[in-house]
Amino acid sequence: MIRAENLRHVYKTAAGDNVALDGLNFTICDGEFVAIIGTNGSGKSTLAKHFNALLLPTGGKIFVDGLDTSDEKNLWRVRETVGMVFQNPDSEIVAAIVEDDVAFGLENLGIAPEKIRERVDLALDAVNMSDYKNFAPSKLSGGQKQRIAIAGVIAMNTRVIVFDEPTAMLDPIGRREVLTMVKRLHAQGKTIIYITHFMDEAAQAQRVFVMEGGRIIRDDTPRNIFTDVKEMKRLGLDAPVAAELAARLRRKGFKLPPKILTADELAEALQ
Ligand SMILES: Nc1ncnc2c1ncn2[C@@H]1O[C@H](COP(=O)(O)OP(=O)(O)O)[C@@H](O)[C@H]1O
Ligand SMILES: [Mg+2]
Repeated sequence: MIRAENLRHVYKTAAGDNVALDGLNFTICDGEFVAIIGTNGSGKSTLAKHFNALLLPTGGKIFVDGLDTSDEKNLWRVRETVGMVFQNPDSEIVAAIVEDDVAFGLENLGIAPEKIRERVDLALDAVNMSDYKNFAPSKLSGGQKQRIAIAGVIAMNTRVIVFDEPTAMLDPIGRREVLTMVKRLHAQGKTIIYITHFMDEAAQAQRVFVMEGGRIIRDDTPRNIFTDVKEMKRLGLDAPVAAELAARLRRKGFKLPPKILTADELAEALQ
């Protein structure tokens, strides 16, 4: 479980204080799939880095399984619990061979070599990348590189995985590959925190945080959030295509049930 209590983060810059997180309060339970959306600069990445103590609060607190992340003696246990996957796969890959890259985090934990090999093989298998274990990462597509980064986190076996716009630099095929992995990890019981600017991706979560100006201004189901097309517009965010289309059809006089979110629901309503 992850709990934030009046969590604040202020960046000190030459131009003055920049309040990136302005008093967040929330609880994320084990096994939840939470998406975080919001325009650029709303504080999503700053929040992401608080989940595994890459940044520490400048005010308030965040607890991972009851462990205060700002207490130095909790650092390893926090990092053992929460893994991260970032936007740019190139900046995450550290080794010249795929399997060494996936093993990197484990080697730092002092695990026996044969145990490492076993966990690396399982992790590569989980992301369907076993055939590439002796490849140079530079030879892979963006989607494949992100799957290697995800394998690295799977090998670490953290119970929580935070993704910060992992599909932002990928083509549609790569995006689909990554999202399939994310949903599979959730089905296996991982807690997923998934930052994205693709609303159709966020719509697949169980719960959505909407961030604006360093605050969480909505914390609700995807259905309640995305079918409020007017509010999405005000925030400068797109609604998922089916919700947007349903809103337009309603304006043209079509009688449709409320809160249509998916293409299937819209098709059924139109029938
Ligand atoms: N290293 C930093 N130094 C100073 N300000 C920063 C730094 N990183 C982010 N910010 C500022 O903090 C705010 C939130 O940024 P960020 O968390 O990156 O938002 P998002 O990921 O939603 O785009 C923005 O105003 C951004 O300019
Ligand atoms: Mg960001």
